[in-house]
Amino acid sequence: MHVIVVGGTGMLRDVSVYLTQKGCNVTVIARNQKRLNTLVEESGSVEGCIHPVQVDYRDDHLFIHQVEKAISTYGPIRMAVVWIHSTAPQAPYQLASLLNETTPSCDYFHVLGSSVADPSQQDGRRKKQFMQYPHIQYHEVILGFVVEKNGSRWLTNKEISQGVIRAIQSNQKQTVVGTVDPWSKKP
Ligand SMILES: NC(=O)c1ccc[n+]([C@@H]2O[C@H](COP(=O)([O-])OP(=O)(O)OC[C@H]3O[C@@H](n4cnc5c(N)ncnc54)[C@H](OP(=O)(O)O)[C@@H]3O)[C@@H](O)[C@H]2O)c1
Repeated sequence: MHVIVVGGTGMLRDVSVYLTQKGCNVTVIARNQKRLNTLVEESGSVEGCIHPVQVDYRDDHLFIHQVEKAISTYGPIRMAVVWIHSTAPQAPYQLASLLNETTPSCDYFHVLGSSVADPSQQDGRRKKQFMQYPHIQYHEVILGFVVEKNGSRWLTNKEISQGVIRAIQSNQKQTVVGTVDPWSKKP
């Protein structure tokens, strides 16, 4: 199965490795070639394989072109794990549109920062936009925080990857990694 992890060399690194161990062909998007190479070297798996794609997703045309190339080499993408900064606000939709056109069904795990859970910022526009893609099964993975005895802290990379893997395994529409409640306890 061909899957894509956008931002798969950072906090989602363990997700890239997990999907490889599951036997997937994993296209990983990031800019830093050295970190991509290290991921390939360290993810030695007999089953799947990492296909590193060095591109800046802020360059929408090049980003989509590179994903098209990966699709033509490894086949339709059946799962996407997507962590895209707000510096490229259209990129998540452009990717969804391409996947919608090229696959009969794709699970799209959209990893989102805590700010989407801010009660003063709630709006349904994002989910509505994804509803226009009938072949995309949209899943939200909201990164929260951890409340501890003496305060609160942000999630570690390990906790983030583990939470995203749980979201993939459970296939739920929405997963919160850590908590966003009560919002007032945010670090
Ligand atoms: N609620 C929370 O707890 C929460 C939420 C968000 C973040 N965090 C923490 O904050 C830390 C920093 O966040 P981060 O976003 O830097 O996470 P990161 O996952 O460590 O890095 C971002 C990933 O996206 C790639 N990337 C970034 N910009 C890109 C671009 N323009 N084009 C293509 N790929 C790009 C990076 O590779 P390249 O740099 O090689 O391109 C990397 O693979 C994380 O490690 C995490 O622990 C916590």
